[in-house]
Amino acid sequence: MSDPINPGFTPRIFSGIQPSGGLTLGNYLGALKRFAALQGQGAETVYCIVDLHAITVWQDPQMLRARIREAAAAFMASGVDPAQSILFNQSQVSAHAEMAWLFNTVARVGWMYRMTQFKDKAGKNSENASLGLLAYPALMAADILTYQATAVPVGEDQKQHLELTRDIAAKFNHDYGVGHFPITEPLIEGVATRVMSLRDGSRKMSKSDPSDASRINLTDDADTIAQKIRKARTDADPLPGAIDGLKDRPEARNLVNIYAALADETPDQVLARFEGQGFGAFKPALADIAVSALSPITAKMTEYMDDPAEIDRILGDGALRADTVATPILEKTKQIMGLLRSRP
Ligand code: TYM
Repeated sequence: MSDPINPGFTPRIFSGIQPSGGLTLGNYLGALKRFAALQGQGAETVYCIVDLHAITVWQDPQMLRARIREAAAAFMASGVDPAQSILFNQSQVSAHAEMAWLFNTVARVGWMYRMTQFKDKAGKNSENASLGLLAYPALMAADILTYQATAVPVGEDQKQHLELTRDIAAKFNHDYGVGHFPITEPLIEGVATRVMSLRDGSRKMSKSDPSDASRINLTDDADTIAQKIRKARTDADPLPGAIDGLKDRPEARNLVNIYAALADETPDQVLARFEGQGFGAFKPALADIAVSALSPITAKMTEYMDDPAEIDRILGDGALRADTVATPILEKTKQIMGLLRSRP
């Protein structure tokens, strides 16, 4: 089967999540839930725990290993089925790092300095950031293009990195006069592509926010979830009948979007039911739906984490399968670039 946007390429979806902290409701709604939904829809699905990305900022080795397993448990608990999808951790497939080097020679330094994620993470002292943090988007492009992936589901915050991936693919194809890499489509869809902090409607919900009250973690129990929603920042006005009425109320809009994403409804459908009511009524309803959506996931995660050897086996098996797709594409890339290949 050929991809409609990139004729000649197999439709293949790739996406990744960093194991750099516990996963949040933002990761679930913006990524994991959609990863599961995209399975069995006609495209191959390849999902990766991007541990090589995580180490661009220092990670405690013991903790990192635990978080890789926890991320794998979160993928599976959210419905990613290792029999239907390839699920693995990045560092077990060396093609990613090798392709990243090749892309380091294609991408321009100026492209990297423009990345807002680099600016945010490097902060004021960017001279002291790891070289890996600067080169990070070339590794991300490598993740995607080592599978010639045609589509990448992500949240809004990854848009700029995906544009850079398209730039790298286009520059490579142009510089070498080939059509080797597809121009990957970003899939940034739905109402939860940017879940905001519960404490500040202008900031993204993030696993690295110092305030735990700002996010819902996939490992939070029912009481914690209800309490965080109860304490979420809102305003005193009643809810309007349609989402347009929440333009200047970012905290309120965020909670309505979260409700809609959890309930598989549109924000307008949600507001049609809550029109005229205040947060005293809305928050308990949101807490109920959040708990009923997340509790089964938390419970399954705990079950998977009780058997780390099985997680390791699944990731190892996924890595072997990923390798069979990635290695021939990497080889072909090296040939195109004129790197001599003569190993028996
Ligand atoms: P990461 O680990 O920060 O986030 C993983 C995924 O979760 C989405 N996400 C959110 N979506 C909605 N609202 C939020 N508050 C929220 N927070 C996170 C992210 O958009 C992402 O889809 N660079 C990537 C990882 C990566 C990758 C890749 C992704 C590496 N290689 C190749 C796709 C393809 C990152 O740091 O995501």
